Amino acid sequence: MNLTLRIWRQTGPEEKGRMVKYRVEDVSPDMSFLEMLDVLNEELTLAGDEPVAFDHDCREGICGMCGLVINGVAHGPERATTTCQLHMRHFKDNDTIDIEPWRARAFPVVKDLVVDRSAFDRIIQAGGYISAPTGSAPDAHATPVPKADADDAFEAATCIGCGACVAACPNGSGMLFTAAKITHLGLLPQGQPERRERVLDMVAAHDDADFGGCTNTGECTAVCPKGIPLTTIGRLNADFLRASAGR
Ligand code: SF4
Ligand code: FES
Repeated sequence: MNLTLRIWRQTGPEEKGRMVKYRVEDVSPDMSFLEMLDVLNEELTLAGDEPVAFDHDCREGICGMCGLVINGVAHGPERATTTCQLHMRHFKDNDTIDIEPWRARAFPVVKDLVVDRSAFDRIIQAGGYISAPTGSAPDAHATPVPKADADDAFEAATCIGCGACVAACPNGSGMLFTAAKITHLGLLPQGQPERRERVLDMVAAHDDADFGGCTNTGECTAVCPKGIPLTTIGRLNADFLRASAGR
């Protein structure tokens, strides 16, 4: 395939950015989206130009490092798919593809397509832990957990912290991420000692980091590569109200 790419280039956090047009040729449909960008970067480097900066690590859909807005959609056109797992077969020959960074006040651009997601780290620091001594791996039945709770906790724990939910939200809210972390720990027996402080502290850290409020638009869950459902935010709200009331 031959493609035209329009990519956001920005030399630094304080610089003005702009879309720059590139042409890439002989792209295999079997390449991942990031491999296609690797090809472009190799050409730019050989020509003595600055390669396009973008985040990535595992390239297996599990680390949460990658994240691009592709044709206006966080992580691109395939549902429940990270940018690194998106393949070029989902595009057509001679397509023009717009590639931008996450756009959110809480995620300032560092360079080109790289944004600073340390606001998520501050939310985790505020309460994403348990104090129960874990010791070595216990017997599987040592602490019984109801099956439905175990399933919901596991679903919430699949959040990889990519930030697509924030990029897609018209309010720039980080509520789906925060709710996933609160739900993961709050449903398990080991997470009970800090349950009340956790939800209050993590929501406060969320608001301090300049994320917007949640108005239930559902854009977050639509782009989430792990399919974290909106009901997770419902759980957060219930926990938050109980904790605020001192119960
Ligand atoms: S909730 Fe989904 S979109 Fe948001 S950070 Fe977690 S995995 Fe990414
Ligand atoms: S690079 Fe790890 S999830 Fe995409």
